[in-house]
Amino acid sequence: MPLCDLMDLELTVPDPDGLAAFWERRGMVRTGPSTLGTADRPSQLRIAEGTYRHVSEVRLACTDGSDLVAIAARLERIGVASSTADGVLRCHDPIADHEVVVEVGAPAALTPPPARQVNGPGRQERVNRRSSGSVPTTSAPPRRVGHVVFGSPDVAATVAFYRDGLGFQVSDVIDGGIGCFLRCSTDHHNLLVMPAPVPCMNHYAMEMDDLDAIGLAGTRVVAERPEASVYGPGRHVLGANLFWYLLDPAGGMFELFADMDQITDDEAWATDERRDDWDPFTIAAWEPGPSKPDFFLPADIDDLARARDAAGR
Ligand SMILES: [Fe+2]
Repeated sequence: MPLCDLMDLELTVPDPDGLAAFWERRGMVRTGPSTLGTADRPSQLRIAEGTYRHVSEVRLACTDGSDLVAIAARLERIGVASSTADGVLRCHDPIADHEVVVEVGAPAALTPPPARQVNGPGRQERVNRRSSGSVPTTSAPPRRVGHVVFGSPDVAATVAFYRDGLGFQVSDVIDGGIGCFLRCSTDHHNLLVMPAPVPCMNHYAMEMDDLDAIGLAGTRVVAERPEASVYGPGRHVLGANLFWYLLDPAGGMFELFADMDQITDDEAWATDERRDDWDPFTIAAWEPGPSKPDFFLPADIDDLARARDAAGR
């Protein structure tokens, strides 16, 4: 695959300082005037000011310059214009109109969290001392941005752009094509495309160390805004990731996730695991209860559509 990872996302919102401060309270670090990073990666969320909430840029990584040439040729074949200069390819998502940037490089490796000894039936790994999970003051910041989910009025065209143009791999397909999970790294998904009446962001996702880190961070968000929880915590079927979906102060949904399926052998996954007929209503292996309706579509989708129109998009 020509791509090797998701580098970062640019989110545009009316109050960028409010959103940046929110992620700083979650333990992210402001590494530039509008840039938030994690311990290992200095740029994960870039936050810009605009009239309505949307993803304005997706930045991807590829291995070397020949990948940029190959991606430009792939894009040309599907009728999408691109430009390449100084080792950076730029193009636009033809449905959502946000910019997509591909650079030669790779994000910094992540420092693994300290191994946790776990006790269980017939297994005693941690004896005569307390679990680190019992100390709720332990900082549990996000480790990286892992994926983004777009709502599209033309799922097939959006999938074609990312799969046939940019070179994402398909990991799983929902119900013959109403939704599609795609990857540009070893993650089961770095991108999910699902139906929506107008182009929109469904959610962006930050990787956490484990379920304890998800629980600790999520409950702190809920302590700030009790209405923030949308769905979770639980464990997904596709991707197998632990999840908790919440709303940020800009009204955007984000996911705290951990323990996602990893794919290092594309052929083995395609042969042994990929399915194209997943039931769209079987979302979780376990969950605390049904999601709120805005799990599927932002509650303010009409406002977003009007703002998008007003911006001439
Ligand atoms: Fe997600």
